[in-house]
Amino acid sequence: MGSAMIMGRRTFESLPGPLPGRRHIVLTRDAQWQAKGAEVAHDRAAALALADDQSVSVIGGAEIFALFLPGADRIELTEMVGAVDGDTAMPDPRAQGWHEIGREEHRAEDGRPAYRFLTLIRD
Ligand SMILES: NC(=O)c1ccc[n+]([C@@H]2O[C@H](COP(=O)([O-])OP(=O)(O)OC[C@H]3O[C@@H](n4cnc5c(N)ncnc54)[C@H](OP(=O)(O)O)[C@@H]3O)[C@@H](O)[C@H]2O)c1
Repeated sequence: MGSAMIMGRRTFESLPGPLPGRRHIVLTRDAQWQAKGAEVAHDRAAALALADDQSVSVIGGAEIFALFLPGADRIELTEMVGAVDGDTAMPDPRAQGWHEIGREEHRAEDGRPAYRFLTLIRD
C-alpha cells in the first residue's frame, strides 16, 4: 500500500480491477495497449523512471520478477503450505542466493489452505 507497483500486462489483466491506494505501472511491448488505472511502460528503465524516487513493489508475474530480481533488495514471499495447482512458476529464491529473515505463519481456515509470509534478503 502506498508504493508504486510494477507488474506485467498479464498480471494486470488477472486483477479484478485496479487496487486502491497504489500506482499500477504496467509493462507491455504493445505500443497500443492501455487500460484504466494503468501507467504504461515499454521497458524496465521506463517503468523505474515512472516510479521516480517512490518505493517500488514488483508484483509479478514470473517474467517481470526475473527482469527486476537483479535490482531487488528484499522479497516478500507468500508460500502456500502443501500442494497447489498453478499455471505459472518462478524459481525458489532461497536456492538463488536469498535467505529468510522473517516468517509469519497462518493456519488453514474457512476452506483456505495454510500459508506463510516470508521476508528474504540476499545472502
Ligand atoms: N502468486 C503470485 O504472487 C502472482 C503474482 C503475479 C502474477 N501471478 C500470476 O502470474 C500469471 C502472469 O505471469 P506471467 O509471467 O505469465 O506474465 P507477466 O509477467 O505478468 O506479464 C508478461 C507480459 O509482460 C510484458 N513484458 C514482459 N517482459 C517485458 C519487457 N522486458 N518489456 C516490456 N514488456 C514486457 C509482456 O506483455 P505484452 O504481451 O503485452 O507485450 C508479457 O507478455 C497470472 O496468472 C497471474 O495471476 C501470480
